[in-house]
Amino acid sequence: MAVILEARGLRHHYSGDVVALDGLDLTVETGQRLAILGPNGAGKTTLLLHLNGTLKPQAGQVLLDGRAMRHGRADLNAWRRRVGLVLQEPDDQLFAVTVFEDVSFGPLNLGLGEDEARQRVTEALDSLRIAHLADRPTHMLSFGQKKRVAIAGAVAMRPDVLLLDEPSAGLDAMGIAHLLAALETLRAKGTTLVFTTHDVDLAWQWADQVALFHQGRVVGQGLAAEILGDSQALAPVHLQVPLALAVGLRARALGVLAADAPLPRRRSEAAALLEKWGQNNDG
Ligand SMILES: Nc1ncnc2c1ncn2[C@@H]1O[C@H](COP(=O)(O)OP(=O)(O)OP(=O)(O)O)[C@@H](O)[C@H]1O
Ligand SMILES: [Mg+2]
Repeated sequence: MAVILEARGLRHHYSGDVVALDGLDLTVETGQRLAILGPNGAGKTTLLLHLNGTLKPQAGQVLLDGRAMRHGRADLNAWRRRVGLVLQEPDDQLFAVTVFEDVSFGPLNLGLGEDEARQRVTEALDSLRIAHLADRPTHMLSFGQKKRVAIAGAVAMRPDVLLLDEPSAGLDAMGIAHLLAALETLRAKGTTLVFTTHDVDLAWQWADQVALFHQGRVVGQGLAAEILGDSQALAPVHLQVPLALAVGLRARALGVLAADAPLPRRRSEAAALLEKWGQNNDG
């Protein structure tokens, strides 16, 4: 499959000799959903800041469509139009007075006309179910509301690649459902998605591929079922096999689930499988 974005041998240390990236390699395939998992301080945020050019590699390179990226002003502008980033902290992202203005900023900056920009903003706000917040001051919103506004701002840009740093953190269950639906709409139009999370169940529910980070390196990258189903690979990063995947793999091993049947991705699908299993044993 075609690779849209790639990090090769990235190194970054912050002042005080903190090594955040230690020769990190990662590939992002076009049209895929890639989940990045790893403990606090593993370098996830630092990597995302390199992937859209906010930080410049101290060694190594970032490649977009196979071309090494440069950090001149024009290059950075073009790069950030194609690769959007939603920061971990919404307060670091939002700056306009009202929600509508904040989400409008990107589309207007793309040079879109006022009508088209307005259309995109309305769609983005609707998709995250925050149309009712349009005229509210951004600094008076709850954390989860701010988070949704920040995501709406990135969605309205319709980037080729959208990087999201812990997008589900602080959202309620409906918020996460709306987030995934909004991202799915974007993906259907061709956007490649990369997101960090500490939630293995969410990663399994939604990602095609998974990369495991540990101490500034990628220690495993591959298909979600392969990486998340490998308890030995997960142990060093203090993660466990997602519940639905564990149930599915056990059901396969016991012959309850056919080898070629899809594995359950959601808890509800795993519960339905257990239910069927119970009924078969009762009868
Ligand atoms: N602005 C900074 N100045 C100095 N050190 C930093 C800075 N930002 C991050 N670090 C350090 O760099 C390392 C990687 O941090 P990073 O924020 O990339 O990790 P992370 O995987 O995103 O963690 P989390 O899961 O907590 O968000 C950590 O050791 C952190 O303390
Ligand atoms: Mg982080």
